Amino acid sequence: MQLNYQDIKRYYSPSNYGPRGLPDDGVRGRLIDGKAISAEVRSIIKADIEQRRADPTTGGRAPGLVVVLVGSDPASKVYIKQKQKACQEVGIKSTLIEMPEATSPAELLATIKGLNEDEACDGILVQLPLPTQQLQEEQLAILETIRTDNDVDGFHPFNLGRLVTREPNLRPCTPFGVMHLLWSTGVNPYGLRCVVVGASNHVGRPMMLELLLNGASVQIVHRFTQDLEAVVRDAECLIVACGKPGLVKGDWVRPGAIVIDVGINRLESGKLVGDVDFETARQRASWITPVPGGVGPVTVAMLLRNTVTAYSTHTNRGAAA
Ligand code: GUN
Repeated sequence: MQLNYQDIKRYYSPSNYGPRGLPDDGVRGRLIDGKAISAEVRSIIKADIEQRRADPTTGGRAPGLVVVLVGSDPASKVYIKQKQKACQEVGIKSTLIEMPEATSPAELLATIKGLNEDEACDGILVQLPLPTQQLQEEQLAILETIRTDNDVDGFHPFNLGRLVTREPNLRPCTPFGVMHLLWSTGVNPYGLRCVVVGASNHVGRPMMLELLLNGASVQIVHRFTQDLEAVVRDAECLIVACGKPGLVKGDWVRPGAIVIDVGINRLESGKLVGDVDFETARQRASWITPVPGGVGPVTVAMLLRNTVTAYSTHTNRGAAA
């Protein structure tokens, strides 16, 4: 697989792919290695940052990401550590701002507004979930306060809208990471019958848009869908992002389908599992992502990519995308 994120449009060209439809060579249970794909993307990003910093117009400045954590959710701390480690590896300066759980919406908004004006800060990420009901009620206003050119999560309605209108710039990290996983299989997404389980703002909905952008035919199912199983059974490519461990049974998977599991759930035993019953699903899927080691690592890689895109805007060097 050759990934060149500066020339991303080539992925959209049908001529890059083989015949339409889901090829089935009869092989089952191939793993889509999110760690390896993420490492490949990160090495491209690292080289790109070095090249950009060598250009006099950047003044040698490193791209900067600021993560804001309100409260002390242990899972959030783990995710943030992963993001910071990845930033360090590619040459992005990451800063963590920790705010107490009792932070008011006004205080958080003031912090974001300050960061919006900070020239060393290219990307702002407010770690979700927010810890209190008061903050959760203001979540939309909080995310909309992040300047659109700093919105490395791609959650601002402006950036989501750019994805709707087929001119994406900063795009939600998980769905775009999933596209890299799908591309890695070499299967032609044009006309592929895809089913997305989950209709969240940050994964399911933008996932639908990324797939559409690649010419796939997309159906979204959610908690009100009748006969979920029948819809899933028809999917050539199944993407599950509903946060319910084992919701999708292995014998629902169409033989030869591609299965991408966005779920990450910790069982009482401490084990991490996805939303798909992995062991049974892998016996039917042609390709399947493991949990952990599938979607998580590419999501982090897309955050780095967005940060460089924001940096390239701020250093007037044109979009990295
Ligand atoms: N919490 C879990 N994943 C994410 C993410 O991608 N972005 C933000 N802001 N919070 C998260």
